[in-house]
Amino acid sequence: MNELRRDLENLQAQAIAQIQSSADATQLEQTRVQFLGRKGRLTTILRQLPTLAAEDRPTIGALANQVKEAIEERVVARRAAFESVPGDEILAKDQIDVTLPGRRPGLGRLHPITQIIRRICGVFVEMGFAVMEGPEVEWDYYNFEALNIPEEHPARDMWDTFWIDPATSQAGKPMLLRTHTSPMQIRIMEQTRPPVRVIVPGKCYRYEAVDASHESQFDQVEGLAVDEQITFADLKGTLHTFARRLFGKDRKVRFRCDYFPFVEPGVDMSIDCFLCKGGGCRLCKETGWLEILGAGMVHPGVLARVGYDPARYSGFAFGLGPARVAMLKYGIEDIRFFHGNDLRFLRQFP
Ligand code: DAH
Repeated sequence: MNELRRDLENLQAQAIAQIQSSADATQLEQTRVQFLGRKGRLTTILRQLPTLAAEDRPTIGALANQVKEAIEERVVARRAAFESVPGDEILAKDQIDVTLPGRRPGLGRLHPITQIIRRICGVFVEMGFAVMEGPEVEWDYYNFEALNIPEEHPARDMWDTFWIDPATSQAGKPMLLRTHTSPMQIRIMEQTRPPVRVIVPGKCYRYEAVDASHESQFDQVEGLAVDEQITFADLKGTLHTFARRLFGKDRKVRFRCDYFPFVEPGVDMSIDCFLCKGGGCRLCKETGWLEILGAGMVHPGVLARVGYDPARYSGFAFGLGPARVAMLKYGIEDIRFFHGNDLRFLRQFP
């Protein structure tokens, strides 16, 4: 009788384990039949009841019933689990591993020109300049007239211009896409009194034949400082500091005369080539110098036009192209890369 008891207990344990591990309703049914069916293992054990002593039969019979009920109970529970939520079966197969690392979203980055503009502005902001922006569609007056470039003046040849159709422009006031950021000098001075210290980044447009160093749309950064007693020494000191901050602390600068109608005197500033340290190489075209900006002392006529007394106030102005700065700094040989939208290029500027 003890043997039968052990058989029953083993059978219950095995049946329950198998029920729990059955993968779907079909497997569960097979397990049920295997243990409780007409030819199942429980029936086989029960067949041996008559061989027991009469007084043992009720005990074993009762145990057999308990085992049967316990197994049936598990079968019912397991079946309910399979049937109640159809998704369970899918979930059981299709498990999600929540510990897997996620997919990183592709992060963008700032355009190399934007990065350079921010660095340039940052250097001037630290020297007390304020950053301002202005309109890209401009009146002829601000882009030329007020900057000492009257109509018919040959200096206009320096800036090939996109004109706005006079039909959409206002009568008698020609309108254009600004060819430089210098018109903002006028707009700012018209609206404020000295001292003025501003830096103006922005887009400019020129009617140009596009090549490796010219595009019809490009950026400029303009600077202007006006106050009492501002001299050419202030211009040199400020721009030299800027050059060292951007290109390295032992950069030398060179100023040479140049002509811009709105400054007097006008200069262009070069830095000694940071690649060959002035010895001459491909980058500086064997000259040892790289030209990076135009500058000068604000012309008295320009000051007078905005109502500043040229006898009392003086100032300096400068303008530079961040694309040129970036090309020099990173050795980029064609300006068209910047807006070519090629990720292989853009990804090199993290
Ligand atoms: N606006 C000039 C250009 O586009 C650059 C320039 C030269 C700006 C001298 C200035 C300046 O403010 O003083 O060619």
